[in-house]
Amino acid sequence: MIDSNENPLGPCSKAREAVVNLAPQGGRYLDHLTAELQQTFCEQQGLKPEYLLIYAGSTEPLHYSVLGFTSPTRSYVTADPGFEAGLFMSKNSGARVVKVALTKSYAHDVKAMLAAGPDAGLFYICNPNNPTGTITSLSDIEYLVENKPKGSVVLVDEAYLHFSDAESAIDMVKANKDVIVLRTFSKIYGMAGLRCGFAVAKPELLEKLDFYGGNFMPITGAAAATASLKDAQLIPERKRINTEVRQATFEWLDRNGYSYIPSQTNFFMVDVRKPAKGVIDAMAQQNVFIGRVWPAMPNYSRITVGTRPEMEKFQTAFKKVMDGTAVGYLNSVPQLNPTRSRRQNLLS
Ligand SMILES: Cc1ncc(COP(=O)(O)O)c(C=O)c1O
Repeated sequence: MIDSNENPLGPCSKAREAVVNLAPQGGRYLDHLTAELQQTFCEQQGLKPEYLLIYAGSTEPLHYSVLGFTSPTRSYVTADPGFEAGLFMSKNSGARVVKVALTKSYAHDVKAMLAAGPDAGLFYICNPNNPTGTITSLSDIEYLVENKPKGSVVLVDEAYLHFSDAESAIDMVKANKDVIVLRTFSKIYGMAGLRCGFAVAKPELLEKLDFYGGNFMPITGAAAATASLKDAQLIPERKRINTEVRQATFEWLDRNGYSYIPSQTNFFMVDVRKPAKGVIDAMAQQNVFIGRVWPAMPNYSRITVGTRPEMEKFQTAFKKVMDGTAVGYLNSVPQLNPTRSRRQNLLS
């Protein structure tokens, strides 16, 4: 399952322990676990507690940011290709969607975004970007923030930040700029199924998100997130493992003459030299589930970096599919990944 940018390592051992130990208390709300998570993150980041809202994942605050800051008169400005959850939600707010091509180095083209969105309500910057895995410099994001139209907000989605060398935009939040930073525990922390995510912004902006509702955190998600933040080795170790497996996969692709976008994250775009849908279906026939296609790059499929054995399986299947020698052992009907059953606007 290298299709949804999940982390095959799952939660760290202290997070697993926390989940198991809490199971008997699953009948309780135990709000203090969310308060402890808030305190832990704010102390680590030097943030005031009122600058953080905690959610069961980052999808909710992403949706609420779109609802709160875009409208039929305030557009939603995003990169193309980019992560589409906000774009889909802007249908609900009635906002004009402005898609702006990435630069040649696959960074957000902040000057073009500013030019295309004089009526912007929200600029969405995914750093590193999903699906390209590429970085936009902090100085470019700062330029966007300093030059954006009055009343607009910059939403910086840092879902994949810790796999890369990108710099966080949290200092701009601390400086009370019109910036919302999203973080998730679904990626490097391996907690996509446990659920926890953050919106970090000054209180006036968070109020707009809070308007759309808050909910109790699952106690397992809150406790596992706190345990993960307290594990000082987690980020450097997982970043190293991911970088090594990604690099080995890139070397294999190079040796075999395939091209890809050099990514700094736990996923990358590979060029399959024809409409990618057929390759995705053929890979599923080999029991290897790879990621989806973006309309701006129809010949590319997004591949998540799995474990070494998973990537070896990917290589074997990919070569066969690309050489046209694959024999589907699952009959000829395209297979669906049996674990995926998502509403259209729930994306990874
Ligand atoms: C860029 C980006 N932002 C946000 C999300 C939402 O993740 P979650 O709701 O699991 O935090 C994803 C999921 O893959 C993502 O890729």
